[in-house]
Amino acid sequence: MRIVLLGAPGSGKGTQAQRLVARFGIPQVSTGDLLRSAVQRGTEYGLKAKAAMDSGQLVADEIVLGIIRERLAQPDAAAGFVLDGFPRNTAQADALDAMLATIGKPLERVVLFEVDYVEIARRLSGRRSCPKCGTIYNVHDAATPGITNCTRCTDHPALVQRPDDNEATVTRRLAVYDEQTRPLIGYYKGRGILRGIDAQGPVDEVTDRLLGALVSPPAQPLAAALARAKAEASARPKANPRAKAKAKAKAATRPKAKSKPKSKPKAKAKVKVKAKAKAKAKVKSKARAKPGVNARSRAKPKPKAKSKAKAKAKAKAKARRPAPRRHR
Ligand code: AP5
Repeated sequence: MRIVLLGAPGSGKGTQAQRLVARFGIPQVSTGDLLRSAVQRGTEYGLKAKAAMDSGQLVADEIVLGIIRERLAQPDAAAGFVLDGFPRNTAQADALDAMLATIGKPLERVVLFEVDYVEIARRLSGRRSCPKCGTIYNVHDAATPGITNCTRCTDHPALVQRPDDNEATVTRRLAVYDEQTRPLIGYYKGRGILRGIDAQGPVDEVTDRLLGALVSPPAQPLAAALARAKAEASARPKANPRAKAKAKAKAATRPKAKSKPKSKPKAKAKVKVKAKAKAKAKVKSKARAKPGVNARSRAKPKPKAKSKAKAKAKAKAKARRPAPRRHR
């Protein structure tokens, strides 16, 4: 089970992640906890991260990605994990995708915790946690009003308040969430793995909604449907090129059905032209055989011969006419 809990600061991600750990036996991977531990131990990462955390800004991606890479490589994360507070921007989400793609284990579900900001301010002002076991409490909680010490650890250590849970820093953290983390809602919706839950009300009820969101069938928006179609297409057996060539060769050796060869229209036209030219040539050669006569002279009498015939006819007519009488 590979899950991301997404939501504003104080929406209850840490509280619910601890419940998933108890139920499924997979580790909670909280970048906030890992960074706080690095700060406390004074490591190089911790020293670099402290200023950003104190001011409510995000810690640089390369630091967070370095920490996450190390943590997910540990054996207990092989069977799955609950990511709490990571990723927080699209660059981190892309890097996580790439990281999980190399091991062939993509994210299965992202659950968005929806809580209004007035409730968030109330929760963060009352949050306290155990420095030893990390259990989260709230002084406003009806079950533990004004709580000061851990009830889980046998030595009951005093609870502590996080330095970034003051009003000014909380305001900044919420602004950073809106600006940089909220776009991940569309990012994961597009992949069809996002589920939103109402994260207000009693903690047990929120847990029930969370479990429901984890088992509900995935949504099928376009991107997810396309990804599925692509996977199915690549899984389909491809046509064997050798078999294809064999079939082609077989088809070539098969005797073809007898049919009247159709004369091509172009060839037909060629024959016509040839016949015409032959006929013309014949006429010409005939004409050449009778000297002085050509094809054109036969069709039309020569204009000179015409006038000769006319003159002859005129003379004949004149001879037939009686001589004119002379008047005395
Ligand atoms: P981080 O520790 O991750 O803090 P966060 O995301 O701001 O979230 P919170 O831990 O404050 O809240 P939560 O949602 O876990 O709520 P919780 O369960 O405790 O990050 C701290 C800083 O580290 C960041 O500001 C940043 O600088 C840096 N950082 C961390 N990750 C980073 C990253 N990926 N990239 C860059 N920088 C990073 O609940 C809050 C309170 O509400 C508790 O008291 C709880 O008891 C109470 N509560 C819970 N549920 C309910 C309920 N249903 N009803 C009433 N009360 C409830």
